[in-house]
Parts: sequence; structure tokens; C-alpha cells
Amino acid sequence: MRILVTGGCGYIGSTTARHLRRQGHEVVVIDDLSEGHQAAWDGAMHQLDLRDADAVQAFALKAGEFGGLIHFAARAYVGESVEQPLRYWRANLVPVLHLCEAFPGLPFVFSSTCATYGEPPNEDPLHEQLPLRPVNPYGATKAAAERLLQDRAVASQGSYVALRYFNAAGAEPDGSHGEAHDPENHLIPRAIQAVQGLLPGLTIFGNDWPTPDGTCVRDYIHVRDLARAHEAALVHLGQGGESVALNLGTGQGASVKEVVQAVEAVSGQTVPCEDGPRRPGDPSYLVANPRAAKEILGWEAQESDLLALVQTAWNWHSQHPQGYRS
Ligand code: UD1
Repeated sequence: MRILVTGGCGYIGSTTARHLRRQGHEVVVIDDLSEGHQAAWDGAMHQLDLRDADAVQAFALKAGEFGGLIHFAARAYVGESVEQPLRYWRANLVPVLHLCEAFPGLPFVFSSTCATYGEPPNEDPLHEQLPLRPVNPYGATKAAAERLLQDRAVASQGSYVALRYFNAAGAEPDGSHGEAHDPENHLIPRAIQAVQGLLPGLTIFGNDWPTPDGTCVRDYIHVRDLARAHEAALVHLGQGGESVALNLGTGQGASVKEVVQAVEAVSGQTVPCEDGPRRPGDPSYLVANPRAAKEILGWEAQESDLLALVQTAWNWHSQHPQGYRS
């Protein structure tokens, strides 16, 4: 299949683009390089701002036919979205509209998030029938984009799969490719950077949550598993499959303390840690019920062992302490 991948120089986007290429697909990437890294993707790349409708239309006219589109390009910092909501609405919603207008009828795989659910009602794994009640602008923009795609599908103007990622983590096992954000807010890279001496230490955001060890529980899903799910979603749509939103997670939770222990086991070093206050907007417990993705796409996580996942992240960060600048 010839596939258009927006945000293909970012963490999940470039991992997916490389996976698709390995599977024999032709991949064309669009990225504005505001967050992504040119070095993360060495195939066809067009530097384009998806907020510019004319530029997207002009690209569509000359780009040729695609069998599917995967749209990763977005801003994804929860805290930043609270401080700069308009920037998030423009960055995360407007490109979806422009892509739908420029590529009528094209099957659309959309990068969504568990942040669309908001504060979970209880401590059961989250399933897709729960109402979307995002508690921050980031989650709200993603929920709105899902709705846009749903309306387009209902009007028979193009099918979609929205993939609601839980906590993306991990890297290529050989350490050649991985996660590099600036600033880096995510737990696993920050714990590793604390071991590497690149951070003074790791602050644990709250030890008084209503969880077994008092720290927040998340569902860490390997980025390579996410990449496989995008391919499965394209195949599903190519076969005329229904439009749907699906969770991508392992179904297993790990607490912040368990992640710290995993980093210590893998690195053989102590993570310098201190307890800090809760981070505003953090739900205590977010774990996926991934059953629907298995039923509909035949997809399930294969790299769900936390130690093995952290080992791949460690391989990447120890070989690339400065990310793609290393
Ligand atoms: C958030 C979003 C997720 C989104 C992702 C994108 C929510 C609920 N989740 O994930 O949908 O896809 O951002 O970036 O909005 N922690 C520490 N110390 C640190 C860093 C993190 O204790 O220095 C804790 C956090 O409190 C949290 C866990 O580690 O409990 C994971 O945090 P993080 O890696 O930042 O991801 P989320 O906030 O869960």
C-alpha cells in the first residue's frame, strides 16, 4: 500500500513509518519538524505545515494516490495544553479538517489518546463505550477530532480508525531508534536520565494516591506494538471494515514505583528519587481494556513485559544520551 504518514519524524510516527516500510509498504511522510527529528526518518519526507490549508491542497494535487493516511502530527503536552489552549486547538484539530478536505474518502487512521476519557469513573480497565469527558485541552482536541472523523464517516465521506494510545514507551531493541522530546516529561525517559546524571533526580508526583503503593498506575504500551496496530487498522479499513475507536494498551498497570524499580533492575543503578506533590490533572489509575482491538483488528500487545520494555528504552538512551543529537 502507498501510505501517507503525517508526523512521521516524531516518536510514534517514525517508529510506525519504519515498521510499514519493513513490511513492504511505500511510505510518504509529512512533518513540519517542530517536534520531530529529521534523523528519525530517512525516507520520502515533505516539510509542510498542516495548519496551512492551501499548502495541504497543493500537496494533495501533486502527491499522487494513497491507499491510506495515518495522522500523527499533533502537540501532546498536557500541561502546555492547559496554558496554551488555542495553540492546541489549532495544532490538533485544524490539520484533521484540512486533510479530510484535501483527501476526500481516504481511509484515515488517527492518533488518539486515553486522555479523551478524562478522570476514569472507577478502577476498572477503561473500555471504549465510556463517555469521553476530557479534563484538559489536549484530550479535548483529540476527542473533537474523533467526532469530526465520525461525522465524516456517517456521511459516507471516508472511514476511520481512532487509536487511543495509553502510555507509549520503549524503543528499538538494538538502541538505534527511540524517544526524544524536548522538554522530556515522560516517566521512563526521565527516570533513565536521572540515572545518567542528566537530571538532578526524579520527582515522584504524589505518593498518596488511592493505589496499592500510593503512586499513579499507568498502562505502558511498547511503541513497536503501537506501530503494528496502525498497520492492522489500515488493513481493516482497506477490507471495508467499520469505522471505530479502539484502545491500545496491554491491559496491565504499573505504578510509578514499579517503573522506577524496573529502571533500577535494568541499569543496575539507583534512581535518585524524591517524593513531590501530585501533578495537577493526573488521574490515579489509567489502564486499558484492549479486548476490542483484538476482536476487530486481531491486534494485541506482544511486548508487554515491563522489564523488557524498559530494557529497550535503556538501550536507546544509553547509546543516545542527547537523543538524535548524539
Ligand atoms: C499523558 C496523557 C496521555 C498522553 C501523554 C502524551 C493523561 C492522563 N495522559 O500521559 O494521554 O498520550 O501524556 O504525552 O493526560 N511521573 C512522575 N514523575 C515524572 C514524570 C511522570 O511521577 O517526572 C508520573 C506521572 O504523574 C504519571 C506517570 O508518571 O502518573 C506517567 O506520566 P507521563 O509519562 O508524563 O505520562 P501521562 O501523564 O500518564
